[in-house]
Amino acid sequence: MYQQLSKKNTKIAVIGLGYVGLPIALEFGRIFSVIGFDIKKERVISLNNKIDPDGEVPATAFEGSDVLFTNNVEDLNGCSFHIIAVPTPVDEHKVPDLSYLESATTIIAKILKKGDYVVYESTVFPGCTEEICLPILEKQSGLLLNQDFKIGYSPERINPGDTQYTLRNVIKIVSGSDEEALENIAQIYSAIVQPGVYRASSIKVAEAAKILENTQRDLNIALMNELSLILDKMQVNTYEVIEAAGTKWNFHKYYPGLVGGHCIGVDPYYLTYKSMELGYEPYVILSGRKVNDNMAFYIARRCMQQLIAAGKNLTDSKILVMGLTFKENVNDIRNSKVADLIHELKSFGLHVDVTDPKADNKETEKEYGFSLTTVNGTKYDAIILTVPHKEYIGLDERYFLSIAKEQCLFIDIKGVFRKKITQLNYWSL
Ligand SMILES: NC(=O)c1ccc[n+]([C@@H]2O[C@H](COP(=O)([O-])OP(=O)(O)OC[C@H]3O[C@@H](n4cnc5c(N)ncnc54)[C@H](O)[C@@H]3O)[C@@H](O)[C@H]2O)c1
Repeated sequence: MYQQLSKKNTKIAVIGLGYVGLPIALEFGRIFSVIGFDIKKERVISLNNKIDPDGEVPATAFEGSDVLFTNNVEDLNGCSFHIIAVPTPVDEHKVPDLSYLESATTIIAKILKKGDYVVYESTVFPGCTEEICLPILEKQSGLLLNQDFKIGYSPERINPGDTQYTLRNVIKIVSGSDEEALENIAQIYSAIVQPGVYRASSIKVAEAAKILENTQRDLNIALMNELSLILDKMQVNTYEVIEAAGTKWNFHKYYPGLVGGHCIGVDPYYLTYKSMELGYEPYVILSGRKVNDNMAFYIARRCMQQLIAAGKNLTDSKILVMGLTFKENVNDIRNSKVADLIHELKSFGLHVDVTDPKADNKETEKEYGFSLTTVNGTKYDAIILTVPHKEYIGLDERYFLSIAKEQCLFIDIKGVFRKKITQLNYWSL
C-alpha cells in the first residue's frame, strides 16, 4: 500500500475535515495524493480558499500539500486508504451518537474494493470499530475483512489551540485487523509522524487507550474541582495548595475549571455507556463527570452569594462574562460550560454581557440564543474571567477597575490574575 501511495498510483481519502481530519489530510498531502471529503459544502469552499473555518490551521500549511477538497462522493473513487475523522458526540441523554460514524462508514462501504484499508480516527468506545463499523463495511460492500480489505484504528491526539504538541511531533498509536494491516498502517502513518508510531496489540487496545487518556484527564480535573469546593469553605485558595503540593516529586498538577468541548467532557460517556452495556456501573468515572458538569452552576451560585454579601440587589446587577469558547485561544463554542453559567445567572434575573475575541456572534446566537457584546461604557457589579484568552491575559487591574462599579466582584475561574488583583473583590476556584 505504501509503495502504491508513494508512486501516487492510488490516493488517501480523509472523511471529515474538522479539527482532526484537516491536519491529517494536509500532512499526508505532503507525501501522497489526498482527497479531503466533507459533507459541509461551505467548509469545502473555504478549504479550497486555504481558509480553515476553525482558525487552527494557517494558510501556509496548505502550501505544498496535494489535497483535493470536495463534497462530491465520486471523487473518492480513486482512493484505497480511507481515514474516517467524523464527530462522535453524545445525545441529550449522554448516550453515544454514532450517526456520523455510521453514515461516513456507509459512504466508504459503497466504494470499497479489494485491497483497500479503512482506518478510524474518531474517538469511540472499545469495540466500536469492529462491532458497529465493520458490519456496515462488510454488508454494504459484500467484501470480507482481511480476505478482501483491512481495517485499523489510530486515535488522534490533536489538542486545539496548542502549537507545541502537534500531529507531526507526538507519537501516534496505530492498530490493525491483522499483522499485515498493522505493519502497513504503521508504515503509512510513520511517514508523517516524526517520533514514529506505537503499535497497539489490537484495535480494542487502541480504542481504549484514547478513552483512557481523556477519562484520566477528566477525573483528575474533577478531583481538583471537588478539592476547590472543599477549600472554598475554608477560604483557602486551591491554586496555592496545588502550587505547594506540586513541589513533591510524584504530584501531578491538574487545575480546577469548567470541562467543556467535545473531547474531555464527552469521551468518558463512551466508556461508561459500554461499561453499563456490559453490566458494570462505573461510579468513579460518573462521579467525576457529575462534579465537572456541576461546576458552572456552583460558580453561578457563589457569584450570587457574594453579590448579596456585598449588599447588591441581584436583579439590578450587571455581570460581564469574559470568554465563551470551551477553552482558551480557540474559536470553538460547542458544549461550552460557560453557556451553562450564563443561563444560570440569567435565570435569576441578572443582566449578563458576554465578550469573546475568538467566538463568532452568529454561531453564538444559533447555539445559545444570546449575543456577544463589546464593552462600551457599562459598569459592572461582577466581572467573570471564564476563559483566559491571550487577549485577556494582557489586561491589568486598571482596566478592570475602569469597567467596575463600587464593590465589584472579580471571579477568576482559572486563577490567572491571582495576586494581581488587589482592589476588586477577588475570588477564584
Ligand atoms: N478536536 C479534537 O481536539 C479531537 C482530538 C482527538 C480526537 N477527536 C475526535 O476526532 C473526531 C472528529 O473530531 P473533530 O473535532 O475533528 O470534529 P469536527 O466537528 O471539528 O469535524 C468533523 C467534520 O466531519 C464532517 N462530517 C460529519 N459527518 C460526515 C460524513 N458522513 N462524511 C463526511 N464528513 C462528515 C463535519 O462536517 C465536520 O466538518 C471525534 O470523534 C473527536 O472526538 C477530536
